[in-house]
Order: sequence, then C-alpha cells, then structure tokens
Amino acid sequence: MTALPNSTVIAVIGAGTMGAGIAQVAAAAGHSVLLYDAMDGAAAKGRDGVARTLSKRVASGKMDQADYDALIGRIALADSLAALAPAGLVIEAIVERLDVKQSVFSQLEDLCGPEVILATNTSSLSVTAIGAGLKRPDRLVGMHFFNPAPLMALVEVISGIATDPAVAQAIYATAAAWGKKPVQAKSTPGFIVNRVARPFYAEAQRVYQEGAASPATIDAVMRDCGGFRMGPFELMDLIGHDVNFAVTNSVFDAYFKDERFLPSLVQKDLVDAGWLGRKTGRGFYDYADGAEQPQPHTAAPCPAPQAVQVQGVVALTALLDAKGVAYTRDGGEGTLTVDGVLLLPSDGRMATEVAFEEHETEVVVYDLALDWLTAKRVAIAAADQASPQALITATGFFQSLGLAVSVVEDVAGLIVTRTVAMLANEAADAVLQQVATAADVDLAMTKGVNYPRGPLAWAEEIGLDGLLFTLESLFETFKEDRYRPSALLRRKVMGGTRFYD
Ligand SMILES: NC(=O)c1ccc[n+]([C@@H]2O[C@H](COP(=O)([O-])OP(=O)(O)OC[C@H]3O[C@@H](n4cnc5c(N)ncnc54)[C@H](O)[C@@H]3O)[C@@H](O)[C@H]2O)c1
Repeated sequence: MTALPNSTVIAVIGAGTMGAGIAQVAAAAGHSVLLYDAMDGAAAKGRDGVARTLSKRVASGKMDQADYDALIGRIALADSLAALAPAGLVIEAIVERLDVKQSVFSQLEDLCGPEVILATNTSSLSVTAIGAGLKRPDRLVGMHFFNPAPLMALVEVISGIATDPAVAQAIYATAAAWGKKPVQAKSTPGFIVNRVARPFYAEAQRVYQEGAASPATIDAVMRDCGGFRMGPFELMDLIGHDVNFAVTNSVFDAYFKDERFLPSLVQKDLVDAGWLGRKTGRGFYDYADGAEQPQPHTAAPCPAPQAVQVQGVVALTALLDAKGVAYTRDGGEGTLTVDGVLLLPSDGRMATEVAFEEHETEVVVYDLALDWLTAKRVAIAAADQASPQALITATGFFQSLGLAVSVVEDVAGLIVTRTVAMLANEAADAVLQQVATAADVDLAMTKGVNYPRGPLAWAEEIGLDGLLFTLESLFETFKEDRYRPSALLRRKVMGGTRFYD
C-alpha cells in the first residue's frame, strides 16, 4: 500500500500540544491541512505556536523564509467539523475520553467521503473501543505520535479488531513518507512503548524500595553504566508523577491487574504529597533555587589489585585489554577472581545467594553495562558472608579500569541487570502476544523513548539463556508473578532460536 498522495487534504482535530505538532508534520510533508478545535481561538493559537517555533528556525538560518511561508500557508483554520469534509485523512488529537472521541468520529464518518481514513492519536484508549459505534470501523486506525510530534520519529500505527489492514498499511506508508519511523501494533493496553517501558520506572522504584541505593545513585548507574540517556527518577520527575502514575495504573487496570504492571507505593506517596516532579518544584529531587543536589554514591579510591584471573568468557575482558590490565586466563563460567575475591556479573541472584550456593564467602556481583568500553560507572554488591576487604578489592579493581564505583545493597539483579531483563521480558511477551514484531518493538523503544538499544537486541547480546536464568532467579527470589519469564523466551532458549536471525 502506498502513502496518501500530497494532494490528500489532512484534517487535524484538537490543536493542543499534539494536534498543533501533527499539523506541522503534515504541512511540512506538503499536505494542505485543516486544523480544528472545539475551543474558540484554540486552532489559531495552535497554528501561531507552530509559526513561532518555525520562525526561530528562519531567524537562525535553518529554514528558508519561502519554505516557512509555504508551510504556514498550508495550515488553514476550520471553524466547524463540517468544514473538514474535504479531508482524506482526519487525525484526532482531542481530549482523552472514549465517549467524546466516539461521538466526534461518528459525526465525521457522515460528514466526510466514504474513503476517508479516520485516525486517533489516543495514548491509552482502545482503538477497537473507539471504533465500536462507527458504521465503518474498518476505516479507523490508531496513529500514535510522540511528544513533541515534529521531533520524535516514532509513530505507532495501531490496528483495532475491525481495522482494515489496507488502512493500517496506508497510514504506515504515509507516516514513513512524512519522515517518521512507523511501527505496526495491535490495539492492546499501552500499545508498544507505554507497555514495554513500564519496568524502566517500576524496577528502579522497586530497587529503591528494597533499599539498594538512592535515586541519584540509581540514575547515575542507569546512565553511566546502562547507557540510558536519563535515569528513571529524573525522567519520572520530568514527565510528572501524576502523569506517569496514571499511565501505570491505566495499563495495570487494563491488563486486569496483572502483577507485571503493579504500580509503586513509592510513586503513589509522591502523588499523594503533591510532589509531582519538576512542575511542582519537588519530586524525587528538589528543584528549589539553590537546593543541594544529591550526589550518587561513589566509592573513595582503593588500591589496585595484584592478581586478576579470568575464568571463561567475560564481557569485561574487552576493557581489561583496552586498559592494559594483566590477567591470566583459564576455563570456567564467566567469572573473575581478583586477589581471591570472586567477581561475577549479576545473574539475578543476590551475591549472598551466590556465596551460599557456591560455598564461597568472598563474593561480589557487578552490574550490566551497555558497553564496557564507554561505561563510566559500575554498581557492585558484596555477599553478606564476605569480609570488608572483598568490597575494597572489588572497588580497587573497577577503579583501575577507570570506572567510578557505586556500592549498593545486595538486591537481586542489581539495577541495570534487573531493569534490562524485565524490559526484554515485557518485549518478548508483546511479541508472543502478537502485538508487534521483535524488530518493531525494538524500533519503538529506541525511537519512542530513546533507549540505547532495543530490549530484544540487547537480550540477544546478553544471551537469551543468561537472560532467562536472570528472570528465573528473580522469580525464585520474589515468588511474584511480576517476574515470571515470558514463554517465548523459554521457547527460544530451549529451541536454540533467536528473535533476529
Ligand atoms: N501530550 C502527550 O504527550 C501525548 C502524546 C501522545 C498522544 N497524546 C494523546 O493526544 C490527544 C491530545 O493530547 P494533548 O496532550 O494534545 O491534549 P491538549 O489538552 O494539549 O489538547 C487537546 C485539544 O483538543 C481540544 N478538544 C477537546 N475536545 C474537543 C472536541 N470534542 N473537538 C475538538 N477539539 C476538542 C481542546 O480544546 C484542546 O485544544 C490525547 O488523546 C492524548 O492521549 C498525548
């Protein structure tokens, strides 16, 4: 199916944050756009906002005046729904209420031609439910842009139960023609991004609730070791806890209270207190002028180790080699022995559990890095059985590799390991349930929320068997359904197949 031609008139209903941005995207692609808003003056305000943003681009030489004039000239204001009749595609970005959206679409299908495509930008409502009362529910599709629409590349194209696949394909092709990165998804709660991203916030709050580390430490580890652009606490503060908590609750309720999506008491407390993040001046962090910013835990310098032995395949050896650290090698299971201390990457077990199971005392676990050659920090935790010297030795070892060391409490799966395992698990379930393909899930997470790597590509990099072991360990530790491994992951490990061939 090909993209809608430039001659297709695009109507955008709702000229708020999303609608104005979507109008800009369609006009930039060369379409005539009709912008309508039920509130007096709102459509003009929306177009003025676009004009203001783009005039800055003209002033800084990034856009020609002629292109600006043409683009703004293509956005016409409509003063009634009836004025949208010439549209070939109507994109709705109005208030997030099922009854209001249903009513607007049922008026539109009478006003526009039979070939019109009706698209909703809903974030949380079912596309199937929005289409339920329509005469032609096959013409309705989700076209979910991300904020800010002109800058964010991702568009989730959502099919409800009645959506005609040809309509979804036309919207997919149109989004691509508009310079976006579209993905296709089945209408299920949270679609792709708002579902698969839940553990990014949830596991950080769980690890914090379990007393592992402060928000500042967890954020620093997620950024400097996990390679995420922002840590989960600073991101929740930016999004607003009311908004983030509402999305979590809506996904949790929509999945009939599946424990996978259990909201956090930590966040509820912030919402109850009115500490909604940056917008109220207080969230996990204090944004008052002059407020002291908490620093991540960073261990004081410790002596470099004497003897490093590598057993088996250890991702960290790339960094040992790059830093010229001498080590001996023998067979084994992916561990290091540093001056008699057993160091192993977190596999979902607490260091204390590893020490118990392996009949060792000097055991320290370390967290997962996106890439050891670019990592700046690592989180480590010692077994309860270990001597104080074990932490000193492990700290000195990682410092000798140029890494800042955050010592955290011994929680299962540490910080990055636990989060990435749970992101990949959710991604795997989304694929299992045929919400989207593995490639589209990964694309959605890298383009919609800027993850440094798609969760499933990351899972393959870690090794699917190792990932499954991590999830089984978490499940074993907590005995909560939240940590149940995806059946698809299990199948891939047992069958020796992959998400990407
Ligand atoms: N804000 C985001 O980050 C974001 C991201 C993706 C999707 N969405 C979705 O986009 C939609 C709009 O969100 P927003 O943040 O732009 O909201 P907004 O409040 O900024 O804008 C909504 C606009 O719709 C208008 N409106 C309300 N009811 C209307 C009606 N019946 N007919 C015509 N106009 C009407 C309002 O006057 C307002 O100008 C929602 O469905 C939301 O879930 C929002």
